[in-house]
Amino acid sequence: MIDDRATDPVAYLDQVAASAPGQGFKQRVLRLMELSPGHTVVDIGCGPGTDLGAMAAAVAPGGTVVGVDRDPMMVEVARSRLAGTAGVRVRHGDAHALPLADGIADRARTDRVLQHVDDPARALAEVRRMLRPGGRALLAEPDWDGLLIDSAEPELSRRLTRFIATEIVRNATVGRSLAGLCAGVGLAVRSVETHTPVLRDFGTADRLLGLRRNVRRAVRAGHLDGGAEEWIEAVAARPFLATFMMFLVTAEVA
Ligand SMILES: C[S@@+](CC[C@H](N)C(=O)[O-])C[C@H]1O[C@@H](n2cnc3c(N)ncnc32)[C@H](O)[C@@H]1O
Repeated sequence: MIDDRATDPVAYLDQVAASAPGQGFKQRVLRLMELSPGHTVVDIGCGPGTDLGAMAAAVAPGGTVVGVDRDPMMVEVARSRLAGTAGVRVRHGDAHALPLADGIADRARTDRVLQHVDDPARALAEVRRMLRPGGRALLAEPDWDGLLIDSAEPELSRRLTRFIATEIVRNATVGRSLAGLCAGVGLAVRSVETHTPVLRDFGTADRLLGLRRNVRRAVRAGHLDGGAEEWIEAVAARPFLATFMMFLVTAEVA
């Protein structure tokens, strides 16, 4: 999610996960995690439990999946959705102080979470603490400077990207910093790749990226002038193309 203030965050996350770009991204994330039967996995910032079922299937038999989220509403939704799924637990907790013992996890994941936390380095130190030797972290985070929208007025596209990156998302450029942050907490980086979904349908892009909503906010905040609302409608009316950049990093406890 671009920001924490979507009107219905659960519906928003469901829409992202169900979209074609979301599915492609999540499949790649799961593949990079290399889950095996018996693994203990921690999904930090699990949201409404979006991927807990898929992870549980990949670590069965004998595995455990622990979802952690700081938002009690997300925890409640995840618990109710995963009730009855063997091997899944959902905990209320903060990424900066995970409610889990040292060295218990084979795998840890963040999917669009470090972009929101107060201190990504501290959250990664927690990941390091909780992983066992040989354990792997998969960090999937955006870099919002990489949001590009085709437009007859590219300067307005640049200014919208700048508004989102500087005013809306707390750690908007965390994607490019993940490898360095991992090294800083003693995690050995094994791979870094980018994932750049190409969106060719305005409706999908508006749902995933909140384009109209963020243009309205930028106008209210004085970062774009009133004409920007007409501009985004013109963008919607012509053949559409937008892309944005996700970084997928795997790092291990050496
Ligand atoms: C963009 S959502 C992603 C949810 C989930 N990973 C998914 O793929 O659907 C970000 C989630 O991170 C959670 N979150 C943000 N900051 C957190 C923190 N400091 N500790 C734990 N969870 C956090 C939010 O409550 C939200 O559920």
